[in-house]
Formats: sequence, C-alpha cells, structure tokens
Amino acid sequence: MTSWNPISPYTPISLFWALLGPWIFLSLSVSHIPATVSRLYHSSSLSTLLSPSSFKSAWFGTFWATVGPNVRDNNWARIVALLDGRVSAGQISETRVSAPVSGAVLEVGPGVGLWAGLYAEPSLRGEDSSDDSVYGVEPSTDMHPQLRASIAKAGLDGGVYEIVPVGIESLASSGRVQKESVDAIVSILCLCSIPDPESNIRELYGYLKPGGRWYVFEHVKCLPQRGWGMWAYQAVVNLFWPHCLGGCELRRDTERSLRAAGKWKSVDLVYTEGDEWCTVCPHIFGTLTK
Ligand SMILES: C[S@@+](CC[C@H](N)C(=O)[O-])C[C@H]1O[C@@H](n2cnc3c(N)ncnc32)[C@H](O)[C@@H]1O
Repeated sequence: MTSWNPISPYTPISLFWALLGPWIFLSLSVSHIPATVSRLYHSSSLSTLLSPSSFKSAWFGTFWATVGPNVRDNNWARIVALLDGRVSAGQISETRVSAPVSGAVLEVGPGVGLWAGLYAEPSLRGEDSSDDSVYGVEPSTDMHPQLRASIAKAGLDGGVYEIVPVGIESLASSGRVQKESVDAIVSILCLCSIPDPESNIRELYGYLKPGGRWYVFEHVKCLPQRGWGMWAYQAVVNLFWPHCLGGCELRRDTERSLRAAGKWKSVDLVYTEGDEWCTVCPHIFGTLTK
C-alpha cells in the first residue's frame, strides 16, 4: 500500500483552510448554476434543462471550463513529468527514468481537453510517431465542442486524437477500441466519476497491451489508518460533493481497485507531495506497468 507523507507540522490557520477548502470549491460550483441555465436556455437545450442527470453533466461542464485550467496549472509540472517518464516514487527528475506516453493511448475522461497538447509534444513522441493515436473516452457531449477545439489547437485533428463519445462502461459495446491494443492509459482526475469503479477499472486493464503503462493522477479516499477524523470529515463532505460535481466521489480507494485490476509487472504509486494528513482530497500519482 502507498505510504503517506510523514505527518508535517501544521498551524491552526492551515488546518482551518484545509477543512474549509472543499466547501469553497462546492460553493464555486453552485455559483455556476445560473450560467449553466442561461447557456442551455439560449442554446435551446430545454431537454437538458429538464433532465436532472443531463443538467448535472452540463453544470459540471460549465464549472470545469472555469476551474479546470487552474487545476491544470497547479499540477502542470507533475503531469508533464509523469507523461514524460520522469517520475519515480513520486520524485520528479530531470531525465527519463521510464518510458514516456507513446503509441496508442487511451485517455479516460479528457473533459475539455486540458492535457491534449501534451500528446503533441515532440519529446513525448518517438522517432517514428506514425502509429501514435489517442482515444479520448468522454461521455459528456456538452464538453465535446471544447475538447474538439483543444485537439485542433494541438494539431491532433485529422485522425490522431479521436473522441469516443461514450462512458468507459460502454467502450466494449462501442467497438471503437480493441482489447490489448493500447500502449498507454492516461487517467487524470476521472476514475472518481466512472460508475462501478472495480469492474470498469478491470475492464480498462483489458485494453492495455502486455508491457503497457497506466499513468495515474487521481484523488482518493482518506484512509482510516491515517486518522479517523479526516476519514469522517471526508465522509461528511462527500454527502454533498457528488451532487455538485458531476458525480465525482471523494471516497474511492482507487489504488486498491487499480492493484486488483489484474497482474502488474510493477506498480509505482505514491501520494502526491504536499498532501498532508489534513488534506480532504488527497491524490495518488504514478504508473502501473502490465
Ligand atoms: C474532473 S473531470 C477531469 C477531466 C480531465 N481529465 C481533466 O483533467 O481536465 C472528470 C471527467 O471524467 C468524465 N467522466 C465521467 N464519467 C465517465 C465515464 N463513465 N467514462 C469516462 N469518463 C467519464 C467526465 O465527463 C469529466 O470529463
């Protein structure tokens, strides 16, 4: 099991902000309801307005278009290093320590395509990039116009980056990606939102070729061994969180689901630096090799 950062000293002020942070995030999301209603009304999407599940998805799309770029900027250095193969045991190095993302890639839940530009980086593509392709499995059609724009901006349109407009749970029936056909899976802040994580993570494992790598940056459950206080506090926040954030669940033991998905040659996952014991939304970070 991944080890936690050692308990670091904290001040009452930093603890106060750590506990308040999720409520500010939730309030920010709620403040996007009027803009979502207005956007749907003006685009005559009345059916989305009247369907609670479609509305929640559109609401999250509006919110993520605002907040996602900040989340990306805060995590830019670590994600670039992760996809570039410069991370080992959570430490970022100047030079590669493992293989970078290349070949056929399955990006789970790319959203509005905040990371699409990285797949166009020359350093991430080998000498022969003719086989490079990315499948972006994104069920929220509301996000597709922005995702398409990000793909075009990265110069990956024209068949390199293909949007698969389904949830991971329907990927097999879509017939768009064959089992054991992808060199890499990238999941950035999305395994918290997929249904039935145990079986769908196992399903995703089936798409990786032997030797393929899964690049992970996900927020996870506060484990009770780290302290019952945060475990309970996260449970309270999670009563509201999924309703305001497109079904995102705070209390997933994603590391356990990933490890249990199948046989791995190696697992290199740690909690991200800066996630202290009082972090309500701790993250895991690293790669698994099949
Ligand atoms: C928090 S957003 C992260 C988006 C993107 N990975 C990023 O870092 O900007 C979560 C994403 O997961 C997607 N998602 C939700 N359910 C999904 C499912 N069943 N299969 C695949 N993606 C899903 C959402 O539509 C959303 O785009």
